[in-house]
Amino acid sequence: MNFQPEIIAWYLINKRELPWRNTSDPYIIWLSEIILQQTRVEQGLPYFNRFLNAFPTVQDFAAASENEVLKLWEGLGYYSRGRNMLHTAKTILEHHEGIFPSQYNTLVTLKGIGDYTAAAISSFAAKESRAVLDGNVFRVLSRYFGIDTPINSPAGKKVFSALADELVQEQDASVYNQAIMEFGALQCKPKSPLCESCPLRPGCFAYNHQQVQNLPVKLKPAAKRVRHFNYFVAEQNGQVLMKQRAAGDVWQQLYDFPLVETTGEHYAVPEEFAQKTAELFGFSPNLRPVINKKHVLTHQIIYVQFFALDNNITNFNTTASFKWLSRAAVAEVPKPNVINDFVKFYLTKL
Ligand code: ADE
Repeated sequence: MNFQPEIIAWYLINKRELPWRNTSDPYIIWLSEIILQQTRVEQGLPYFNRFLNAFPTVQDFAAASENEVLKLWEGLGYYSRGRNMLHTAKTILEHHEGIFPSQYNTLVTLKGIGDYTAAAISSFAAKESRAVLDGNVFRVLSRYFGIDTPINSPAGKKVFSALADELVQEQDASVYNQAIMEFGALQCKPKSPLCESCPLRPGCFAYNHQQVQNLPVKLKPAAKRVRHFNYFVAEQNGQVLMKQRAAGDVWQQLYDFPLVETTGEHYAVPEEFAQKTAELFGFSPNLRPVINKKHVLTHQIIYVQFFALDNNITNFNTTASFKWLSRAAVAEVPKPNVINDFVKFYLTKL
């Protein structure tokens, strides 16, 4: 047997029962695929169920507020994906007569739907002959066919996508695409692949050349930007001062606290810290360090230090984006993980 029938045979025996596999509704498949780009299946399942419950149809989704969507998305990170989903749902109502498309060429015109998502939706929903190429597929192809071109290089994208396109020909793309991704997730795993029980072993280049641990090859990513966020948590008259974040930086539209960003850790550059704090509050407040956290994002590492503010704020310059919120409202608004954890575990103890 060759590659595709082997993969499909493995899949039919080993596949997990997942709710988005029992439908050809492009809307439901879209929900699942956007979520699964952000997280693995076990963590993604409850998000998928919550989204589908809240928005059973694309019409329901399009009618949502951005806050509702961000709240449901909370914890997944990369919040622009959630915002793009809302944008796309609205586009479908306005320009596609409320019918979620299942053709690749239409799908790629929608916000937040790239090559991968369009291939996944069009193959699963309409059996269009499109190859999916995600991390699982790169790994399986790289190992089985012995390709050492870096998967995150332009040359790698070209080589792997040509091979993937060739392999999907003559296949039932909906089954084959699910099969190769599932095989990557469960059998040909990144760190500890299950080679001893693998039916594809006889034809696997990497296994037969002791290259399993060396493939796929990935170029070292650029160093992450390091940042220092100092948050000031002020509570008075039962209300907490929060701020909705603006465009152009991480966590757009999510809520956090008054913030001073410093170039070094604050205790390393006390002058800078004191000056910026005084600028923010109009005086030098009495600050109590509460907790610090290291928050790792795709392209940034953010060192977050929370301070409780002991002084009452009298003439704080509340610009439009600052809001005094009750504890209940604080719990309600969408927040980045690091803020959410603080609110859950520390806010009550200040
Ligand atoms: N990861 C990405 N898409 C998936 C799918 N449809 N099923 C399982 N895992 C996935």
